[in-house]
Amino acid sequence: MSSAQSFKQAPHKLLVIPGPIEVADQILYANASPSVSHVSPAFVPIFGDCLRMLRKILYAEKTGQPFMIAGSGTLGWDQTGANLVEPGENVVVLNHGYFGDSFADCLQAYGANVTVLKAPVGGIVGEDDLVATVKEQKPKLVTITHVDTSTGVLSPVARYAELIHKASPDTLIAIDAVCAAGSEEIRFDDWGLDVVITAPQKGLGVPPGLSLVMASKKALDVLNRRKAPVTAYYCSWRRWLPIMEAYEAGQAKYFATPPVQLVTALRVGLKQILEDAPKLEERFQIHKDVSNYVKDELEKMGCGFVPLDRANSANGMTAARYPKGITAADVLGPLAERDIVVAGGLHKDIASEYFRVGHMGVTAVDKSRGDVDKILKNVKEVLDIARAKKA
Ligand SMILES: Cc1ncc(COP(=O)(O)O)c(C=O)c1O
Repeated sequence: MSSAQSFKQAPHKLLVIPGPIEVADQILYANASPSVSHVSPAFVPIFGDCLRMLRKILYAEKTGQPFMIAGSGTLGWDQTGANLVEPGENVVVLNHGYFGDSFADCLQAYGANVTVLKAPVGGIVGEDDLVATVKEQKPKLVTITHVDTSTGVLSPVARYAELIHKASPDTLIAIDAVCAAGSEEIRFDDWGLDVVITAPQKGLGVPPGLSLVMASKKALDVLNRRKAPVTAYYCSWRRWLPIMEAYEAGQAKYFATPPVQLVTALRVGLKQILEDAPKLEERFQIHKDVSNYVKDELEKMGCGFVPLDRANSANGMTAARYPKGITAADVLGPLAERDIVVAGGLHKDIASEYFRVGHMGVTAVDKSRGDVDKILKNVKEVLDIARAKKA
């Protein structure tokens, strides 16, 4: 009979795309826990613990109201659009790649009048441009993709938030942290954020299937004051808020069935992040150190990078340009044959020119796995083989 401690997942290819990522054995074991009623005394504290731990991981203990709803990261965009934006209201979307395009599309579906500030590929939106637009439009909402997974660009969220607050104090700030929570520091209270959207399958190291959202008191006040009805059923915070409050208070309440096993797995994953070594602050530093190491080593192999600047590069992933003369076919397939799965390019303008490697969660933090050196050693070997063939 297997126990959490003795359980070992089946051998498989090393998954080092920028999410979903490798999942630790104990989390997968929890994901296979026996059925339990979603309103039972056994499950209520599990759900409540997840909400409390999310507040801690996002430093949202003063002003954050967490929502945990079955769905994927994308559902967080819908929650933002459905609850906070009324038809015809101005929204400014900072766009650093594919996921900025999609967030804008989603908000338009809820009637937002969207202005997109689009950075050049690999760059970030300029501060002057942001301030001028926010001052002129006084938007209801500004959205920022913390890490755009298509380009590996890291947004300076704290700085942007400071500028937005100064230029238009009533404007809400929503960040898409699907590819950032758990691998990049997010200070919800201190930075004055209003919505953080994330999901379990990237830096949090848990299987996909949940939308995790933190909303500020200010955001909930805006929802309470809205004139137009919320034109969504499943993602209406008015329906979900009493559920979240009940579970956190130790009582069950039903609106729609939560994925019981996945929530159980999330609790194990969040507990590992908060209670096991390394501590939360150190975890972010480890991601930075690993990221610098990966980028330095890839540079030595002749790779360039999609982000134009190291300071604006994600710490949980790398978007590396192929060295001169090397193509996707030289790298992606040969690595997969060696049981290492990395991702190809996603930004439509440059998709064939780069590949993406995830180095977040256990791959970065659990050095005993040896994932990072395994990735680098094999990338070097497949590049050497391709170069030798073409010589
Ligand atoms: C930055 C970012 N936002 C949103 C999403 C959408 O999340 P999901 O695929 O879980 O719906 C992703 C997915 O990769 C992402 O990387």
